[in-house]
Amino acid sequence: MKKIKILHKSFSKPISCLTAYSPSIANILDGKIDLILVGDSLGSTLYGMKNTQGVTMDMMKHHGAAVNKEIKKSLKVLDMPYKTYDNKIDAYRNAKILLNHCKPDLLKIEISEKKLVVLKHLVDKKINVISHIGVTPQSYKNFNKIKVLGRTNKEKKNLLKLAKESETLGAKAVLLECVTANTAKLITENVSIPTIGIGASKYCDGQVLVFDDLINLNINDKKPKFVKNYFNFNKVATNVVKKYNREVKLKKFPSTKFTYN
Ligand code: KIV
Repeated sequence: MKKIKILHKSFSKPISCLTAYSPSIANILDGKIDLILVGDSLGSTLYGMKNTQGVTMDMMKHHGAAVNKEIKKSLKVLDMPYKTYDNKIDAYRNAKILLNHCKPDLLKIEISEKKLVVLKHLVDKKINVISHIGVTPQSYKNFNKIKVLGRTNKEKKNLLKLAKESETLGAKAVLLECVTANTAKLITENVSIPTIGIGASKYCDGQVLVFDDLINLNINDKKPKFVKNYFNFNKVATNVVKKYNREVKLKKFPSTKFTYN
């Protein structure tokens, strides 16, 4: 477990994390960022689902195992899909299947007060768990209904409580999704495990984004405010496809260079 040291609050630099669903992307990311997450966002990002509730154990097993083969240096995190950790027994059974099949360093589960017993059970069974709080996408059928949390005192208090409870029960990190800067700062200053934010401000100990959003590979036009587009793959790839199509029509491709004699 040497790599897990990255998840110590004292680790000097902010923690970087991106998602990967395929070996080719995992290969690009490995060693260049601290954590690679096989997120259940693959449901909406890769499979075109409306939400993540249709993501199955089989999907996570296939993508998790394929990604795992390419990761040698970064820490590997895998999401447990919707309804696979509703109670202690299911959670442990499914966690063991994912751990055996995909060999992640950590599992991530979406936490509410009710799910804390599941977190405790997995930790008691010596499983490394990241507690995902704030906006927990598995609770939404309609992503348009998602709203930022932590604006009211009640939300702030509840999130801080969940984060502290996650720490006490042994979570290795807390992932904060769509949380106001003030609340993220408060939580980060009051827990001794790292906070990793997505739409949760610079005050977190680390940041995560969906890789497809980073390079504009995601066909979903409505990107949340927190998504920064670093590269327009969509535009470049569209031009490449048009060029290929043109060359095929003009019989320029394949030229002799690409032909067996
Ligand atoms: O599934 C996922 O990709 C995630 C990130 C959005 C943090 O949970």
